[in-house]
Amino acid sequence: MNLHWVLLFASLLCFSLVAGDERNTYIIRVQHDLKPSVFADVQQWYASTLRTTTTTDVPTKSLMHVYKTVFHGFSAKLTDLEAEAMKARPEVLGVYPDRVRKLLTTRSPQFLGLAVSGPNSLLTESDYGSNVVIGVLDTGIWPERRSFHDKDLGPLPLHWKGECEEGKGFLRNLCSKKVIGARFFSSGYEAKTGLMNETVDTRSARDTEGHGTHTASIAAGRYVPQASLFGYAKGVAVGMAPKARIAVYKICWDKGCVDSDILAAIEKAVEDGVDVISMSIGANVIQYNLDPISIGAFGAMEHGVFVSVAAGNDGPGPVTVTNIAPWLTTVGAGTIDRSFPADLILEDGQVINGASLYGGPPLPANTSFPIVYAANVSALVEGQNGTRISSYTARTCAPKSLDPELVRGKIVLCERGGSPRASKGSVVKEAGGVGMILANVVPDGEGLVADAHVLPALQITESAGSHLLEYISANPNSRVRLSFRGTQLDVKPAPLVAGFSSRGPNIESPYIIKPDLIAPGVNILAAWPDGVSPSELVSDPRRSEFNSISGTSMSCPHVSGLAALLIGAHPNWSPAEIKSAMMTSAYAIDLQGKPMVEQSQFKVSTPWDMGSGHVNPSRAVDPGLVFDITAEDYVGFLCASNYTDREIHSITRRPSNCSVKAKTVYDLNYPSISAVFDQPEMSTIFITRTATHVSEGVSSYIVTVQNPKGAVVTIEPPSLNFSAIQQRQSFVIKVKATGNNTVVPLGESKTEFGRLTWQDGTHVVGMPIAVTFEKPLVL
Ligand SMILES: *[C@@H]1O[C@H](CO)[C@@H](O)[C@H](O)[C@H]1NC(C)=O
Ligand SMILES: *[C@@H]1O[C@H](CO)[C@@H](O)[C@H](O)[C@H]1NC(C)=O
Ligand SMILES: *[C@@H]1O[C@H](CO)[C@@H](O)[C@H](O)[C@H]1NC(C)=O
Ligand SMILES: *[C@@H]1O[C@H](CO)[C@@H](O)[C@H](O)[C@H]1NC(C)=O
Ligand SMILES: *[C@@H]1O[C@H](CO)[C@@H](O)[C@H](O)[C@H]1NC(C)=O
Ligand SMILES: *[C@@H]1O[C@H](CO)[C@@H](O)[C@H](O)[C@H]1NC(C)=O
Ligand SMILES: *[C@@H]1O[C@H](CO)[C@@H](O)[C@H](O)[C@H]1NC(C)=O
Ligand SMILES: *[C@@H]1O[C@H](CO)[C@@H](O)[C@H](O)[C@H]1NC(C)=O
Repeated sequence: MNLHWVLLFASLLCFSLVAGDERNTYIIRVQHDLKPSVFADVQQWYASTLRTTTTTDVPTKSLMHVYKTVFHGFSAKLTDLEAEAMKARPEVLGVYPDRVRKLLTTRSPQFLGLAVSGPNSLLTESDYGSNVVIGVLDTGIWPERRSFHDKDLGPLPLHWKGECEEGKGFLRNLCSKKVIGARFFSSGYEAKTGLMNETVDTRSARDTEGHGTHTASIAAGRYVPQASLFGYAKGVAVGMAPKARIAVYKICWDKGCVDSDILAAIEKAVEDGVDVISMSIGANVIQYNLDPISIGAFGAMEHGVFVSVAAGNDGPGPVTVTNIAPWLTTVGAGTIDRSFPADLILEDGQVINGASLYGGPPLPANTSFPIVYAANVSALVEGQNGTRISSYTARTCAPKSLDPELVRGKIVLCERGGSPRASKGSVVKEAGGVGMILANVVPDGEGLVADAHVLPALQITESAGSHLLEYISANPNSRVRLSFRGTQLDVKPAPLVAGFSSRGPNIESPYIIKPDLIAPGVNILAAWPDGVSPSELVSDPRRSEFNSISGTSMSCPHVSGLAALLIGAHPNWSPAEIKSAMMTSAYAIDLQGKPMVEQSQFKVSTPWDMGSGHVNPSRAVDPGLVFDITAEDYVGFLCASNYTDREIHSITRRPSNCSVKAKTVYDLNYPSISAVFDQPEMSTIFITRTATHVSEGVSSYIVTVQNPKGAVVTIEPPSLNFSAIQQRQSFVIKVKATGNNTVVPLGESKTEFGRLTWQDGTHVVGMPIAVTFEKPLVL
């Protein structure tokens, strides 16, 4: 789902429209309390607004969605001029062009399973999430899969008010006590892309891509014995909250997902009564008041709905994290303790370790094959005498880039980039190659993801890739062997932060650490639709009930499902308290007791990589203390972040007055800490936090601090005594710089990390501390 390609597609379409009259989709935010009383409802009012602002004959036709719950306003097709006129209207708070978002999957189908069964206390305390509804905003669902059966489920939760919307290939009777609602949202998409292509998209909640079926079953799939891909890695497949109900909101289509539809779906989901919204989609970061997802999620949060989102797959570079509003739970990806080793054996006996989920017929045993570098075997350009196609296209094995004369019977070394990984294997296969080595390139590093290749193939690391290139250069006619070693369990170290998982710091609010935490997102086995191959290649005829793919798209629904369990166990907790419970109980130490490492360079990971750490469900159910945040607290934070009253109004849908809020950005009761020294005269930062005691009876907590370099952190008071559940106590974190930012080069910043931990003998309440010394270019 390449965003650039999507935009190019959209702009190509605009070409065919009459110049000057091209209409784009806009989302218009309206101050709804200004509605004149002559209009019976806002729909009439918006239609009238459109009549007076646009030149179209049938203005009501350009009115696409009307928003009333988490957002007030509508979406409509407007010309640039009309959009400008709309902005000038007094009741209009904002006019945003619709954007296309991408699904956050590292498109790498794989063959193995994650047989997760949560901790028993959490599962039983929550009755497996039975009374909780998870709204999955994605590509739809394949409801017939065993993962979605409704055997032995109780009646629908009483708070559920949603519907099962019929559409092509999706009759109402497909909804059940498991999949309790299904809707689809396409008007924004159709306006943006011109038309729905019904050969590739089905106009209903039916999933024709795979992503939505996969994420829904990660969050709430039922126990399915004998789950496997082609008999590989048999086991029990199960989601996080096996009895939670799934409500499907299909918002993503062949070319992506569009803001106006996403917002309409969030709105409907909240009206329908979902408890959790799971959104594994992303786009570039923009200011919260311009981002319909941040806006929609703010409204959802106010209605008590927990919203979890994927952090993005643009790691390992810094400042790549997306979906960063403080009221969202932003989830990065980690590995699990399972891998799929495959080896490349060179003629001189050297063994290069890689990863693969190739499961087809093996190469003849002990037979070696010539290896060639894709850039040196590229196809001739048609009609140009002797010219070969360009080196980048060839070395990344783009479609039709290889010369069959030079590839036949050989193993080809391809590099990552440009096209989906599994598609490169099919390019080699079409050219007559017998195998492929897929090498990471800068900045992929040492992170490996195994794929369900269509021919014998394995992925190797960046360093192994450069070594192999030198080897082939030095040994032009060498032969190699491949060996697939199946599934390896108890892999150490684990978990690792996935190489592709997007990293902080948070560009919009450096005072908030993002991502918030990580969860499993590499090689995750979950349900897969019929009609889509596990490699997702149209040319691949293989089908499977389950598939294994990777991405923060997969880690997000883990947290959504766990949130459903926590809500089941603690129905009165606010979304911020649920998130706090997961964050303060997360671990930054891996399962071997060593500091958690990140996959791309095998360096110790920091809170910019993993946030508070890896989610730890059995501890999250009984966190001891939680840190609550109200909608008003977020408003104070936005004021302190210099958002204007008007911008804040766009997010909160009500007037706000920052001049009566004496707040600092450090007062938001966030369950992690980031202090930024951005002025030369700053020497001390005071940060306040308020803990709510969520255990019965009396407890006495004592704090310990692991100091970041360059600062001394003290906590006042250093002990907190609670005598009853729900009691609140505040403490102040004093961060005193021992160095100063003169050591940081102009325009740069340096961050050091520490941690504070409250302990009462039973509970461990941890918070990472980031201290940044920054020297902005403009002082
Ligand atoms: C619809 O998709 C099919 C399959 O990708 C493609 O061949 C066809 O050209 C598309 N039609 C339109 C109108 O884009
Ligand atoms: C392949 O080589 C290994 C080790 O040299 C040997 O044990 C095995 O018997 C060989 N297999 C075949 C089919 O030749
Ligand atoms: C192509 O190049 C070859 C050798 O360089 C030459 O003999 C031949 O005439 C060229 N053909 C054309 C169509 O240019
Ligand atoms: C690719 O071809 C060039 C030019 O013939 C040669 O110098 C280089 O070693 C080749 N590289 C590999 C990896 O085979
Ligand atoms: C807000 O603006 C004031 C005045 O320009 C500045 O001193 C302060 O640092 C800004 N705060 C943030 C969080 O950017
Ligand atoms: C905001 O509050 C201040 C102080 O109470 C007041 O002077 C000002 O008029 C208020 N502004 C708005 C827009 O309500
Ligand atoms: C909490 O109780 C301990 C032990 O009784 C005591 O030493 C400490 O001062 C108390 N802390 C506060 C903040 O009252
Ligand atoms: C900042 O640090 C430098 C080097 O350690 C020192 O020379 C300077 O006096 C310090 N400035 C302030 C304002 O503390």
